[in-house]
Amino acid sequence: MSATGTPGGAERIVRTTVADIARMHADGQRIPTVTAYDYPSARLADEAGIPLILVGDSLGQVILGYETTVRVSLDEMVHHTRAVVRGARRALVVGDMPFLTYPTADDALGAAARFLQEGGAQAVKVEGGRRTAPVIETLVRNGVPVMGHIGLTPQAIHAIGKVRVQGKTRDQARALMADALAVAEAGAFAIVLELIPEQLAGAITERLRIPTIGIGSGPLCSGQIQLFTDIMGLSVDHLPRHARRYLHLRESIAEALHAYATDVTDGSFPGVAETVRMDDAVFEEVLGRSPLDRADADAGLYDALPLDRDL
Ligand code: KIV
Repeated sequence: MSATGTPGGAERIVRTTVADIARMHADGQRIPTVTAYDYPSARLADEAGIPLILVGDSLGQVILGYETTVRVSLDEMVHHTRAVVRGARRALVVGDMPFLTYPTADDALGAAARFLQEGGAQAVKVEGGRRTAPVIETLVRNGVPVMGHIGLTPQAIHAIGKVRVQGKTRDQARALMADALAVAEAGAFAIVLELIPEQLAGAITERLRIPTIGIGSGPLCSGQIQLFTDIMGLSVDHLPRHARRYLHLRESIAEALHAYATDVTDGSFPGVAETVRMDDAVFEEVLGRSPLDRADADAGLYDALPLDRDL
């Protein structure tokens, strides 16, 4: 879970495990979680000590520019997971199984194998409650740590209609409680609660032994997850109500790009600091201006070069 000293003094990096996450939860520590989609975002999150990183299929919307997560392919997810795993040396990396890659236990095993073997992730996430519980059970039985995800499940957006809070009525709330229990019983090590009312998230959290990781579900969850792009102010579309911007990168990047373009057009970039010079005597020789000019010795090789002495 951290860097420890070795007898030789070299730093040994230890990867966070699902047992570490369970221990944090048992110790009452809240679990900060963030999505990452590439090497730099993963590296920054890892260096900041974030213990749990999700390569979310939100990748499709915030990085690849699709309208929904439904369009994201397994190949795209695995490709980005590999980059995240290269950047995150301590955090537990969870790969988000894309839409329709886990309708059956066999499909799920195949997709999970790609995340763990090709992608290097340590766990996968699947959306759905009671309907997905048998798949979770199979994955866990086969050694794949699983994170569940209930409440708003964006992969079902075409069935749900639009992004909105889930579980506000008595029946919906009870259904979500049953979903949460089924996911936990199936062996998930954690569960994302997306866009559900605060009290319901609190009640589910109290009833589960595994940590709940909330997004838009209030402060009573065992941890919180946010999209890297939202909290850094990089989101192109609107910021969801539940997100808090810790930086305003879009504005900063736009300003920086304008400044760069201006410097290039007015000739002030690159300057002395960004420029390399070669030894002037060597350069004189290159152009055939030097008394030490040895170009003749190489006759034939450089015949076509227009040297100063021939001009
Ligand atoms: O894809 C994603 O980023 C997610 C989070 C919203 C939990 O599933």
